[in-house]
Amino acid sequence: MKYIIANWKAFVTTQKQAKALAQAFAKVKAEKHREIILCPPSPFLFAFGSSRAYTKGAQDVFWEKDGAYTGQTTLAMLVDAGVTHVIVGHSERRHFALDSDEMVNRKVRAALKAGFTVVLCVGEKEREDPKAIPEIVGKQVITALADVPLNQLSALMIAYEPIWAIGTGVADTPNDAMSASLYIRKVVGELYTSKAALALRILYGGSVNRENAAAFMHQSGIDGVLVGRASANKEDFSAIIKSVDIPKR
Ligand code: PGA
Repeated sequence: MKYIIANWKAFVTTQKQAKALAQAFAKVKAEKHREIILCPPSPFLFAFGSSRAYTKGAQDVFWEKDGAYTGQTTLAMLVDAGVTHVIVGHSERRHFALDSDEMVNRKVRAALKAGFTVVLCVGEKEREDPKAIPEIVGKQVITALADVPLNQLSALMIAYEPIWAIGTGVADTPNDAMSASLYIRKVVGELYTSKAALALRILYGGSVNRENAAAFMHQSGIDGVLVGRASANKEDFSAIIKSVDIPKR
C-alpha cells in the first residue's frame, strides 16, 4: 500500500479552488494499492465531501477538547468535517506557530486517542550536519511518541521531511531518505518492538514532484509521499498519483 498525501498548505486560498481540486481528484479511480489523502486549509474542510477516491486530512489540530482557545481547530471540529487524518508537527508549524516537541506530543496523543490517523512530521534543518539525523530527528521522534501506547502505533505514519528539502526544489535522494527511514525505524524499535518498527508507515516529503515521485514511491522502506506545492496543482498531483503505477526502473 502506498500513501500519497496532498498538503495544500496555504497554496489554495479560495473555496472554489479547493472544490475544483477535490472534484478533479474524486474522478481518480479508487485503487486498493494506494490511498490519497487531501489536506486543505481548515476553512475549506467543509468545502468538499468525502469520496471513494480520497480521504480527508487536516494540516494541524489542537489537543484540548473545547474551550477558550481562540483560533484553534479541535478534534471534534475535524470529526464533524469528516476528517480521518491529521498532519502533526509540520516544520512550518514548528517554525511559524512555534509548535514545540512537547506540543507536538500533546497533539499526537490527543489525535491518536480520538481515533485519527496521525501523520507525524520530522526532519533536520541542515543536510551537512552528520549528527542531525540521530540527534534532531531521533529526539523529535522520541519526544513526539512519549506516552503513546503501543496499540495506537498502527494509526501512526511518520513523514521524514528534511527542512532543507521543503519548498526548495532540491529533494533528498531516495537512498538517503531510506537511510533516514531506517534510523526512524530503529528508534521506534527501541521505544516499542521491532515488529512495530517494521509495520510503521514512513513517508518522504520535501520537493516531491512529478519527475521524482516514482523513485520515492518505489524505494524500499518508504511507504509513500507527502507533497506540498505540487499537490495544489491538478496536473502535477495527478501525475504523482499515477507514478505509483510506473514500473520500477
Ligand atoms: P514541498 O512541501 O513539497 O512544497 O516541498 C512538502 C511539505 O512541506 O510537506
